[in-house]
Amino acid sequence: MACSDCFFYLGVGAAAWWGVRAVWALLSALRLWVLGSGVRVGPGIGKWAVVTGATDGIGKAYAEELARRGMSIVLISRSPEKLEDVAKQIREKFNVETKIIAADFGKPDLIYDKIQSGLTGLEIGVLVNNVGIAYEFPEYFLDIPDLDNTINKLIDINIVSVCKMTRLVLPGMLERSKGIILNISSASGMYPVPLLTVYSATKAFVDFFSRGLYAEYKNKGIIVQSVLPFYVATKLSKIRKPTWDKPSPEAYVKSAINTVGLQTQTNGYMAHALLGWVTTSLFPISTSINLALKMNKGVRARFLKKSKKN
Ligand SMILES: NC(=O)c1ccc[n+]([C@@H]2O[C@H](COP(=O)([O-])OP(=O)(O)OC[C@H]3O[C@@H](n4cnc5c(N)ncnc54)[C@H](OP(=O)(O)O)[C@@H]3O)[C@@H](O)[C@H]2O)c1
Repeated sequence: MACSDCFFYLGVGAAAWWGVRAVWALLSALRLWVLGSGVRVGPGIGKWAVVTGATDGIGKAYAEELARRGMSIVLISRSPEKLEDVAKQIREKFNVETKIIAADFGKPDLIYDKIQSGLTGLEIGVLVNNVGIAYEFPEYFLDIPDLDNTINKLIDINIVSVCKMTRLVLPGMLERSKGIILNISSASGMYPVPLLTVYSATKAFVDFFSRGLYAEYKNKGIIVQSVLPFYVATKLSKIRKPTWDKPSPEAYVKSAINTVGLQTQTNGYMAHALLGWVTTSLFPISTSINLALKMNKGVRARFLKKSKKN
């Protein structure tokens, strides 16, 4: 065979390979974002769902969506008044049972015995490890206000809560060989995000923990999903008005919950999946890190300028 024939067949082979990959990616996207749910997340998995950070934003949206599907909800957050309020709304709107546990995940020595006794005797099908905090504004590590306290809080709230809540809930799920654990990480856990370095690192922990846990227990009836949103319009992100790429928490959760059973690691929302693909597969990671640094420098400068004026 002549050399030119070799190149011809190599070219045809490569084009066929990329063609098959493109069709496969398209069909997978169609199944994921258009056809929807792999697993019916609802009371069939267990009567109760436990949601941390359940009174606002993404946590509240998960609590409402799971109640809409007929699950009874345990809501955990700090403020008893907000908990009472959201629990009442959920009971009245969806006609399900609710239970509230007031706990500050920033105080790990005080809360887990209380949470354990609050959960005793409940058939828990779904755990949503949602609670999380970020910095007030993007900042260089050593200049973060109240640095020592902030480091402790970020680790206790974003990391310790995920491990400890899983420790409390997983044994009951294993007894019934059924359970779903949804861990809310962040797109900033996909690669380092400068000026949010500690936050980004805590979210990478959540992603690794989830994927490792999934591999350990997937043959025992347990689904663990790592959820990695880009911006969602909540108090934490300080985004008030939802847009196509920064959805409301309700729109985000409606989409993310349909990926359970189809993806163990998900950006949860079609526009976010596209951003995830661009920033991790299309660009070299170093470019994504530099873009994130540039963007956060801008956010930091605007925040500092605004706070000087006030
Ligand atoms: N919004 C985004 O753009 C975005 C993007 C990626 C990932 N995420 C992740 O999504 C999760 C939810 O974020 P969100 O934007 O929905 O936040 P959010 O709107 O600020 O809501 C946070 C919830 O957590 C509770 N909470 C805060 N600190 C707590 C503590 N120390 N102990 C117990 N409860 C506490 C709050 O209620 P109380 O104040 O009453 O306690 C509230 O219910 C977080 O893990 C976050 O990292 C968010």
